[in-house]
Amino acid sequence: MAEQATLTVGDQSYTLPIVEGTEHERAVDIGKLRGQSGLITLDDGYGNTGSCVSEITFINGEEGILRYRGYPIDELAEQSTFPETAWLCIFGELPTRAQLSRFSDLMTQNQALHQGLLHHFAGFPPSAHPMGILSAMINAMAAYQPVLMQPEQLDLFEEAAARLISKVRTIAAVSYKTAAGHPVIHPRPDLGYTANLLHMMFSEPYAPYEPDPDVVRALDQIFILHADHEQNCSTSTVRMVGSSQANLYASVAAGVCALWGPLHGGANQKVIQMLTGLQERGESIESFVERVKQDSSVRLMGFGHRVYKNHDPRAQIIKASCDKVLAKLGQEDPLLDMARRLEEVALQDPYFVDRKLYPNVDFYSGIIMRAIGIPVEMFTVMFAIGRMPGWIGHWREVHQNPKARIYRPRQVYNGATQRGYVPMAGRSGK
Ligand code: CMC
Repeated sequence: MAEQATLTVGDQSYTLPIVEGTEHERAVDIGKLRGQSGLITLDDGYGNTGSCVSEITFINGEEGILRYRGYPIDELAEQSTFPETAWLCIFGELPTRAQLSRFSDLMTQNQALHQGLLHHFAGFPPSAHPMGILSAMINAMAAYQPVLMQPEQLDLFEEAAARLISKVRTIAAVSYKTAAGHPVIHPRPDLGYTANLLHMMFSEPYAPYEPDPDVVRALDQIFILHADHEQNCSTSTVRMVGSSQANLYASVAAGVCALWGPLHGGANQKVIQMLTGLQERGESIESFVERVKQDSSVRLMGFGHRVYKNHDPRAQIIKASCDKVLAKLGQEDPLLDMARRLEEVALQDPYFVDRKLYPNVDFYSGIIMRAIGIPVEMFTVMFAIGRMPGWIGHWREVHQNPKARIYRPRQVYNGATQRGYVPMAGRSGK
């Protein structure tokens, strides 16, 4: 007989099924608990709630394991490319040569923006945050090809996915160029995904930017490392919005907004701001670490993770890449030295050790992007570009689930109990 859990409340016992995943992660299925007992479960912040069953990404936070569709992250980071990893995350298998070529062609065909979309950029002030622009433009994009908004057939879905992954790169580059007051540079069909992004960001009309293959590789690797991360804040948002049968673009645009926050994708920007702040104030690493420990409103950005309690495997790969890129570009960044020192001091401090706080993916990625010349406001946009395959794959999973229902958590209400309406004249205060 399948394993079951028993919950005893007072003199009543309830039997609850245990669900086991392919990596032997076990969960108590409480789906029928309220019907049986009137009880709901409470887990503020979802620290211990499985919100779905998914086949895309496996994480073991205790052991620092991350795999997309079964493939270890270090093997993908070493051997795959971003378009290939994107296909893997979305469709479940490494693509054949023909599948990858078709997907790449679809991305190339969809790389330019409709002229009408380009006009939208003029409506944003130069100070607008590129994450706000990205989210707005993804929603606007949907209007230009409504047939792709509810793609039920695989062929249409593949095109919708390729179009989204391809165009977010163009949107990112155009928003960067527009904010800088520079002419927009059109994509080049002969360049690969990541080289094309760098070309659109850094070429000028009479001065083409020739991306260094090692730089292209480092950014491509950053995208691979960000491609999915199971039920984080933004991905859960995409699934939540998608569960109402909202279209792919609307769901992903919501994911961009969730990612924007400094505790999520915004952390890479905050890491650099934290390091430059230290530099400008001339504050020592030791004094800053003390402040983090004393004042709960000051966080060591790029440290800590809800799931990883041993190490973040992405951080290790990025740290190695960071050393390589800076050496290749012949750059010495004092912020890298500060980051290394900060890591060293924090990892010896009982505050961080006891709370199992380690550098996460954002701790060193900003230093690589800075070395490439990507401005700090664009960092989270780079994270969003990388996370597209995960969001798209999760949206597809929600839509393909024959038992899918709209996501609708419950709550424990703790507000005022019923009271009578008080007319204005009877209310106290001004
Ligand atoms: N600096 C100082 N203290 C920290 C930090 C930090 N970066 N992270 C956690 N803590 C402390 C926290 O104050 C708490 O201490 P106490 O038990 O004394 O109250 C304890 O560690 C547990 O923290 P928590 O807030 O309950 O942890 P969480 O799982 O809710 O938050 C986190 C995870 C990533 C939001 C958090 O570690 C954090 O704010 N880190 C800095 C921001 C950051 O780097 N975010 C990027 C995450 S990786 C990319 C992504 O997936 O989005």
